[in-house]
Amino acid sequence: MGYQPETLLVEMEDRIATVTIDRPAKLNALNSQVLDELRELFEALQDDDSVGGIVITGSGLKAFAAGADISELQRLRVRSGERSSAKGQAVFSLIESTGKPVIAAVEGYALGGGCELALACHLRVASRTAKFGLPELGLGLMPGYGGTQRLPRLIGKGRALELILDGNPIDADRAFSIGLVNKVVEEGKTVRTSREWLGFIIKKAPLAIRTAIQSVHAAYPNRAQGFQDESRLFGYLCGTEDAAEGTAAFLEKRKPKFYNR
Ligand code: COA
Repeated sequence: MGYQPETLLVEMEDRIATVTIDRPAKLNALNSQVLDELRELFEALQDDDSVGGIVITGSGLKAFAAGADISELQRLRVRSGERSSAKGQAVFSLIESTGKPVIAAVEGYALGGGCELALACHLRVASRTAKFGLPELGLGLMPGYGGTQRLPRLIGKGRALELILDGNPIDADRAFSIGLVNKVVEEGKTVRTSREWLGFIIKKAPLAIRTAIQSVHAAYPNRAQGFQDESRLFGYLCGTEDAAEGTAAFLEKRKPKFYNR
C-alpha cells in the first residue's frame, strides 16, 4: 500500500490492517485531516486484495476518539456546518460500505464523532473502561456524522434519544447490555481481540463476506433523506449563538451559558 497518512498509523499482518488514529494529545479528536486521510486510506484498503479485514482504534488507552475537533467546529457556520457534516457522513459511509469486515477496538472515550465512527464499523469491541457518549447537545450542537441515523437503528429510538439528550457517557457493560458493543474485554486487549476475531471471520470466502455485508445494508433502504436532514439540521445549529457559546466554553474550559429560548 503506497499511501502514507500523517494522522493515522497503519500496520498490516496476516491480511488484517490495523488503523490507529494518532492524535493522543487531543484524545484522537477527528479533525478534517483525519477524515481526509481515513477516506484515502479506506479507498486504498478497499481495492487491496491482500487485505481481508480492518481494525480501527485510537492511540493510547485514554481515547478511541473524543469527537470531532471542537476547535474546527467552532469556526463552522450554516453552510460550512452542513458541508462538514456531509463530509463526515461520507467518510463513515465509505467505512460502513467497505466490503471487508471492519471492527472498532474501543479503549477509553468514544464520544461524539468518535462514537459515530464506532457505529459505522461492522462490529465493536470495547475495553472494560471504555465510555460511549454523544455530548454534542452540551456544545449547542447535535450529532452530525450519521449518529442520529445509525444509533436508533442499532439500539432503538428510545435508547438513542436517551444517549443523545442526556449526553452523559455510558460504560462498557451498559453499552454491551443495549447492543451498542459486541464484546467487552480487559483494558488494553481490544486490538488483539479484534484481530483474533477478524482472523476467524476472514477464513470464510471474501466474496461471501462482501455480499453478506451488502445484503444486511439492503435492510435499510432509502436512508439518504435522513442523512441529508441530519446535515441540514447540524448546519442550522452551527449558525446559532448557542453553538458559538458551547464550543467556546469547551475550549476556554468553562461551563456554557445558553440562551433560554
Ligand atoms: N476536540 C478538540 N480537542 C479536544 C477534544 C475534541 N473533541 N476532546 C479533547 N480535546 C483536547 C482538549 O482540549 C485538551 O487539549 P489541551 O491539552 O490542549 O487543553 C486535550 O484534548 C485533553 O483533553 P482534556 O479535556 O484536558 O482531558 P480530560 O481528561 O480532562 O477530559 C474528556 C476528557 C473526553 C471528558 C474531555 O476532553 C471532553 O469532554 N472532550 C470533548 C468531548 C466532546 O464534546 N465531543 C464531542 C465533539 S463533537
